[in-house]
Amino acid sequence: MVDIARAVPADLPALVESAAALFAEDGGTRDPYMDTGWPAREGSEYYGGLIGSDSALCSLARDGGAVVGHLVGRVRKDELHPGLVVGVLESMRVADGGRRGGVGTALVADFLGWARGEGATRFTVSAYAANAGAIAFYRAQGFEPFEVVLRLGD
Ligand SMILES: CC(C)(COP(=O)(O)OP(=O)(O)OC[C@H]1O[C@@H](n2cnc3c(N)ncnc32)[C@H](O)[C@@H]1OP(=O)(O)O)[C@@H](O)C(=O)NCCC(=O)NCCS
Repeated sequence: MVDIARAVPADLPALVESAAALFAEDGGTRDPYMDTGWPAREGSEYYGGLIGSDSALCSLARDGGAVVGHLVGRVRKDELHPGLVVGVLESMRVADGGRRGGVGTALVADFLGWARGEGATRFTVSAYAANAGAIAFYRAQGFEPFEVVLRLGD
């Protein structure tokens, strides 16, 4: 039985560890310039600042006490989109052995509920084009392509 709960300060090491594993697996294998050492150096300060912030959600999924996934989300407004509140899914990962069991779906459902409660009516997430599994997962959650980053060079 997987339990989803908001991270508290004592959960910071587990959140940083899961974020570091995501950097290594995702950006670290898909972008040669990705600084995979960033979570170890800066993660405690960054994620520590988000835990307890009203405009951010840091959730952990636990199975029998063991952390099996994380999600970091935010809500944002900007002056170019008056009246719009966007829920931004910034980072998520489910531990390798626990995938395809619905944990990611539960984390996203929790995020959508939180963001709606904060007034969000649009929800966004970005993924590497090469991360076909993540894109299929987000599509299964109802997300559809909206903007595309085109790259030339490094
Ligand atoms: C993407 C990720 C979070 C999905 O978590 P998960 O717990 O495995 O997802 P779920 O079990 O809730 O999957 C729900 C549905 O999404 C789709 N899906 C999930 N993973 C998929 C994959 N690798 N390939 C194709 N479809 C996939 C399926 O339709 C799945 O339903 P099904 O298992 O009944 O077929 C997880 O694979 C992960 O952590 N990947 C590595 C990190 C990563 O890429 N994070 C996202 C960065 S943008």
